[in-house]
Amino acid sequence: MRRIEVGGQEPNGAAPYRVEVGAGLLSTLQVPQKHIALIHPADLPRQFVKMVQASLSPTVTIEVPARDDCKTLDVLSGVLSKLAAANIPRDGAVVGLGGGAATDLAGFAAASYLRGVAFYTLPTTLLGMVDAAVGGKTGVNLPEGKNLVGAFWPPKAVWCDTDTLATLPDAVFREGAAEAYKHGLISDPSLLERVLSPEFRPGGANLEDTLADAIAVKAGVVTRDLTEQGERAFLNFGHTLAHALEAVTDHGVTHGDAVGYGMHYAALLSREMGGADLTPHTRAFLKWQQPAPLPPLTFEAVMPYMARDKKADAQGVRFVLLCDLAQPYLARVPEAVLRGAFGEWQRAASPSNDLTV
Ligand code: GLY
Repeated sequence: MRRIEVGGQEPNGAAPYRVEVGAGLLSTLQVPQKHIALIHPADLPRQFVKMVQASLSPTVTIEVPARDDCKTLDVLSGVLSKLAAANIPRDGAVVGLGGGAATDLAGFAAASYLRGVAFYTLPTTLLGMVDAAVGGKTGVNLPEGKNLVGAFWPPKAVWCDTDTLATLPDAVFREGAAEAYKHGLISDPSLLERVLSPEFRPGGANLEDTLADAIAVKAGVVTRDLTEQGERAFLNFGHTLAHALEAVTDHGVTHGDAVGYGMHYAALLSREMGGADLTPHTRAFLKWQQPAPLPPLTFEAVMPYMARDKKADAQGVRFVLLCDLAQPYLARVPEAVLRGAFGEWQRAASPSNDLTV
């Protein structure tokens, strides 16, 4: 088992917490709170719900819709009513078990119920473990856009039971690896080879250490910059195009696949803006990931969505780029460069290209 410490931050006053990574954690959980609400998505394998129920004896178990269907104000309202009906007190706790969507919802319920109760995260997907569960971003979507309502509400502890990854379809595991590979590009290049190794798989010899080191990158960043005043934005490498692809396809592309595509575009932009050529890495990742093919897309269709990126300010959109491995920076990129790189990216991302076969 590996343990990673996430530091507390002032002036927010968030307390330090630990992330544990290992097999069999769900059956050995212990928390100090007596009254616990367990929240999980409907499609989670029953055996994981039962394991957590057996180790934590929750007062109430709340099932929510699968994936982003749970991240709505309606579902949140139902969850808050169930917490109240179960008399979960101020010194109780909410435990979020499942993928990133369920833990985002559970975290926001914990942040808002009685103005905040203790929150614990039990992520069961690779994406949830490497990204969503760590760092305290919680929230729901609005019809107008993703994650428009939420709070920074760091958990008291995160347990990543690697046994849960064995139940994921292969494509879902590969999708989630995008965030681990991204942590390699922006901070820990040793991860690049390890993520692509045949041993990075459920039950594989390097799974626990690679996962823990990828989580450690995020833990370090959010320890230094919880509320995204600076460095935390670097976690968005590849995400400007990724979020645009998700929006323009109406979520026909998964987040991890979109990040795989988006990292290649960001590497092309980085090279065009004078940085090292890291596209061999992002091509190698896409080849390994085998993301679902994209529909035909024009620059004109995608650009308005990139312009709505949260890193945009009054002067326009900013991208996270790399001078070299582990050297991220934020930059404005001229439209001619965005357009030129889009053409090159599209040739690489096309279903007829060997990247995606
Ligand atoms: N997923 C990016 C962040 O947590 O800041």
